[in-house]
Amino acid sequence: MSTETVTSSSTTAAKRVTTQTLLAMRDEETPIAMLTAYDYTSARLLDEAGVDVLLVGDSASNVMAGHETTLPITLDQMIYHAQCVVRGVQRALVVVDLPFGAYQGSSREALRSAIRVMKETGAHAVKLEGGATVLESVKRILEAGIPVMGHLGLTPQSIYKFGTYRVRARDNDEADSIRRDLKRLAKAGVFGVVLEKIPSELAVELTQSVDIPTIGIGAGVGCSGQVLVTHDLLGLTKDFNPRFVRHYADLGEAVVDAVGRYVEDVRLGAFPSEAESY
Ligand code: KIV
Repeated sequence: MSTETVTSSSTTAAKRVTTQTLLAMRDEETPIAMLTAYDYTSARLLDEAGVDVLLVGDSASNVMAGHETTLPITLDQMIYHAQCVVRGVQRALVVVDLPFGAYQGSSREALRSAIRVMKETGAHAVKLEGGATVLESVKRILEAGIPVMGHLGLTPQSIYKFGTYRVRARDNDEADSIRRDLKRLAKAGVFGVVLEKIPSELAVELTQSVDIPTIGIGAGVGCSGQVLVTHDLLGLTKDFNPRFVRHYADLGEAVVDAVGRYVEDVRLGAFPSEAESY
């Protein structure tokens, strides 16, 4: 390969987003765009569209597998989804959720799970839910050199403890507990924290209280960035309509329409045509 080729390909290659990039974006007040991804084809498209962080979320349990909660998905299944996503990405930072049951037992179990994710997928970071209760695990994973993202507010892996998906931290006690957890996580060295379904005012206060990025979902515009489940944004999950979701497309309807026309053509013998045959 000539020097010229090397130079030209390296100048056109997308610059990788790292945890340092996200910290710089936060400092420059450039909002961070994060979305979920679970498969190669979607990850390629989302990366091409300029998403900064792709989260291989345990919401795969809902949107990919059809479960009611995020609890059933396994570490092996998360690793499979993460491997698919990593193969489709050139620029975005890929963060993988440690699923329920893969880190709550002990910090040793948490580290083992995080190491499996990093070794077997090529992803760049892990995310886990909770504050004080997972702090020892967070520290142990960080000590191993693995970047960690936190997740506070509504933490779906604890849905049976909460009992509902309603907005969290409307009362002072819970808001205080989140304030303390965020400080603990930031002090431990996480590179960012997802804040899910909390009042906007609290999210602004929390964001200003630490020097790491906060990424909101249902937490208002005052966070350092936003995350949504991609299937919600694209209108593929029409039965799920919380007010924090904005539908940027109606792919659900587009798919039903396209497939309906295909079925009709097959029935009529109108597909394939001669030009589409050998
Ligand atoms: O699993 C997921 O999709 C998430 C986002 C809601 C942040 O954790």
